[in-house]
Amino acid sequence: MCGIIGYIGENKAKPILINGLLRLEYRGYDSAGIATIEKDEIKTIKNKGRVKNLNDIEEINSLKGTIGIGHTRWATHGKPSSINSHPHADNTNCFSVVHNGIIENYSDLKEFLKSRKYKFLSETDTEVIPNLIHFNYQNSDETGDTKFLKAVVDTCKMLKGSYALEVISSAHPNNMIVVRKDSPLVIGKGLNENYISSDIPAILSFTKDFYILNDLEFAYISRNNIEFYNEDLEKIHKDFQNITLDTSSTEKDGYPDFMLKEINEQSKSVRETIGSRISSSSKTIISDLNINKKFLKTINKIYIIACGTAMHAGLTAKPIFESLCEIPVEVEPASEFRYRNPIITQNTLCLFISQSGETADTIAALKLAKSKNSKTIAISNVVGSSITREADYTVYTHAGPEIAVASTKAYTSQIVLLAIIAIYFAEILDKNSTKINELKNDILLLPSNIEEVLKDTEKIKAFAKRIYKEKDIFFIGRGIDYTVAVEGSLKLKEISYIHSEAYPSGELKHGPIALIENDVTVVSILTNRLLLEKSISNIQEVVTRGAKTFIVTNQELNDDFDEVINIPKTNYLISPVLSVIPLQLLAYYISKEKGLDVDKPRNLAKSVTVE
Ligand code: AGP
Ligand code: GLU
Repeated sequence: MCGIIGYIGENKAKPILINGLLRLEYRGYDSAGIATIEKDEIKTIKNKGRVKNLNDIEEINSLKGTIGIGHTRWATHGKPSSINSHPHADNTNCFSVVHNGIIENYSDLKEFLKSRKYKFLSETDTEVIPNLIHFNYQNSDETGDTKFLKAVVDTCKMLKGSYALEVISSAHPNNMIVVRKDSPLVIGKGLNENYISSDIPAILSFTKDFYILNDLEFAYISRNNIEFYNEDLEKIHKDFQNITLDTSSTEKDGYPDFMLKEINEQSKSVRETIGSRISSSSKTIISDLNINKKFLKTINKIYIIACGTAMHAGLTAKPIFESLCEIPVEVEPASEFRYRNPIITQNTLCLFISQSGETADTIAALKLAKSKNSKTIAISNVVGSSITREADYTVYTHAGPEIAVASTKAYTSQIVLLAIIAIYFAEILDKNSTKINELKNDILLLPSNIEEVLKDTEKIKAFAKRIYKEKDIFFIGRGIDYTVAVEGSLKLKEISYIHSEAYPSGELKHGPIALIENDVTVVSILTNRLLLEKSISNIQEVVTRGAKTFIVTNQELNDDFDEVINIPKTNYLISPVLSVIPLQLLAYYISKEKGLDVDKPRNLAKSVTVE
């Protein structure tokens, strides 16, 4: 993961780098660092923890250089510590590098360099890179600028794995080289200055003109020029794109945290997702999904592939597609799918869901599906993100920027969008028109029903106060309610660090019920009228064993439970959009009671761009 930032221009680099790093912190916050060139010498300031900790190092205030690189880290190799922080320099401090990704063959490369007397200070995979650049530079016959460029190109040829790199050199104080392979990187073009970043929003306040780098394109950047080269050192032509995005929603707007803001935005974000795509009186229109109708009629299998919360949205979508389109659906974590040999024929459709559009596993799974000639659809929230550039078709959730690491509004928008896509397919396939009409009406009512759920959160807050010190919490549900249980459990783990598990209600008796003892909390979701009695029996089974219960339901319950949160009735297939909200809030209030950092939970990052 991690975020990288770079600047070369006429202004002091330091404040620009810090500003960018603060915006990129969502990508990792184990440590941060910057390096600038000061009078032909590279100066590096780095520290463990958040970007703001860099200010604890007095020397940072003396940096005046107008070229610099910065990094906010999510550690993969080597613990979060000051010494393992980026930038990393070679033994002579002539080259400095920031890196996002993983160098898979770093052990071999380290041995290679050690045998040539190079020394290593950190435990990272990254540190081999500046030293290899130094090695290739020393052994090059080239002269001038080409010597620097060739040393970086030669180094990349030796690397296996993924990387986005920025390289500066005290021997070439007016240039920076950047390159990417399977990790994101963009270049923002200014007037006599250029910016580099892992994502567009971090530098959008400086420029609107962007070069989007493809894999193994090398950019040789000076203050007023950018040249692009391929691996054979041949010049390539690239056009920049003018990108305008609304960044206003990246502020907290009076909320104490982004997560609470984003939970409360769900009525608006779902309304944006629906847009004008469905109406009760006419056929569904997904203008960005120009898929061939003849092909759609030949599909006999759908894969939905994603990670984490996005995969949970896929789990919820499975019964929606199966019941409306009558096509079997398989949902799989991208990290598994990418390393097996899935059966994909020309009649298979693969759907990939990623809020950020940068998740390395999901992108790799998409590339695998494409290599097997499957048609691919990306569902993403970030315009122009990597996944959208790889897929055959892209449909956007339009949920607005999601900043909190724990995904909330992106999840509900993903479910709504997947339901709309299922309706769109079913209409083309001419299936289940009555069901579809009912579902459409309920989708259109979702924004007002979400507002209803968000109106009274006091009971949830009070229950959170009651249970925040617990060590284990269970989530149960049947059918589609189980898919919400899984998401509720993930939310709780992520931000409260309480261990929790989700089980299909009927599975409890096959083992997990052994864990239920006096005063254990069991959260249960009940929205399927047809399975109500069965589900109530499962809850009674845990109550009998001493559990206290928190129930989210849209059914009338006769039994007494510790806490019951009533939500509006809606079509069973889209009920997760409403039933997940009390679970998001429960996790949120528990985390607040524990005094934790809700938006930036430990060990996590918003965008997982490494394996
Ligand atoms: C959600 O709360 C998590 N932080 C995480 O599971 C996330 O959903 C997952 O990493 C996938 O991210 P993506 O949607 O950006 O691909
Ligand atoms: N592998 C590098 C490290 O551990 C970069 C990590 C990243 O991209 O998140 O420092």
